[in-house]
Amino acid sequence: MNLPLSSSRVLSGMRPTGRLHLGHYHGVLKNWVELQHRHECFFFVADWHALTTHYDDPSLIPASIWEMVIDWLAAGVDSESATLFIQSLVPEHAELHLLLSMITPLGWLERVPSYKDQQEKLKEKDLATYGFLGYPLLQSADILIYRASQVPVGEDQVAHVELTREVARRFNHIYGREPDFEERAEGASKKMGKKAVKQFNQLRRAYQEQGDDQALETGRELLEVQQNISVEERERLLGYLEGSGRLILTEPQPLLTNAPKMPGLDGRKMSKSYQNTIALRENPADVENRLKRMPTDPNRVRRTDPGDPQKCPVWQFHQVYSDDAVKAWVQEGCRSAGIGCLDCKGPIIESVLSELKPMQQRAVEFEAQPELVRRIVKEGSEKAGNVARETMQEVRQAMSLRSFE
Ligand code: TRP
Ligand code: SF4
Repeated sequence: MNLPLSSSRVLSGMRPTGRLHLGHYHGVLKNWVELQHRHECFFFVADWHALTTHYDDPSLIPASIWEMVIDWLAAGVDSESATLFIQSLVPEHAELHLLLSMITPLGWLERVPSYKDQQEKLKEKDLATYGFLGYPLLQSADILIYRASQVPVGEDQVAHVELTREVARRFNHIYGREPDFEERAEGASKKMGKKAVKQFNQLRRAYQEQGDDQALETGRELLEVQQNISVEERERLLGYLEGSGRLILTEPQPLLTNAPKMPGLDGRKMSKSYQNTIALRENPADVENRLKRMPTDPNRVRRTDPGDPQKCPVWQFHQVYSDDAVKAWVQEGCRSAGIGCLDCKGPIIESVLSELKPMQQRAVEFEAQPELVRRIVKEGSEKAGNVARETMQEVRQAMSLRSFE
């Protein structure tokens, strides 16, 4: 089977943490919903990753998985557009993780910033485990097994994507050198048609002999639009272009969202551990009450005291939800004490409620059909498994495994 252009495949995962909140929606899910229409997308529940920190009490993970998937669907992630699956239903991830562990220097893992950070942060847990050290490498396997070229993640995960790139490069370097590589690459190039072959060879020389980066870029683009070559041939030609071996695993790029940070009800980042969240399925009356009770500029004690939006968590909500006209109204009204804090919160309450409404309606539908949700995930996992198995065949072959098959 020919895969679609690898440049367009997107993969991302989330650890199952139970019901999601507006921070997840603005930071991640909204982005997924947009991406699913423009790219081939794989989104998965990283349940093995949850075990690396919750190995001592995994009993809550299953419920968290289903709550989270319902929230994905409620937020508009669409199983017709994207493939939704559960990591542990595609055990090939574990096989790739194991094989990658053979070539990954310990230092690379020890140097990943989240390793020490999380150990510090979760002091009550013993995270001096083999599994926890391997957390980012398991993530690399998640990404590489789909040959994803783009990985939407938050800032905190960029180092993991960077590690993934290094691991892919090392893998290709070690296992991409076939003895008859050049002849095979030449053979593959012939499939592109005379004109393209000529252009490819010129670009290849310009890059390898003169270090022309633009030629490398153009060469990659040329390969991407070729319809007549298989994935394997494309890998070989990419490697040939760059002067390396075959590029079996694809180096991914992190895809950062530029959405403004979602504040919590207390002005700190919205996070379950601060108990300052608005859950996607929170009852509208509660949402309204909690927004009304939300703290404001501490200097605005009386209605007649002027305030400073810069010192007020409500202002951060306006940055997420309000247009310029409303923002100007807040700035003016707050500083002149022309508006009260409840007035100021009015448009926010309205925006949050109308944003949640369609999600909550969809959530109710999915909650009523647990069989449907299970089927979506089961079918998604089968689809993901097919792609993963294809990559594993190449990986095994490259590592001289199962040569008798
Ligand atoms: N580590 C990610 C997080 O904590 C979850 C994750 C696991 C992931 N595997 C992934 C994200 C692969 C992107 C790609 O959010
Ligand atoms: Fe905050 Fe608005 Fe009150 Fe000013 S008027 S303190 S910005 S809630």
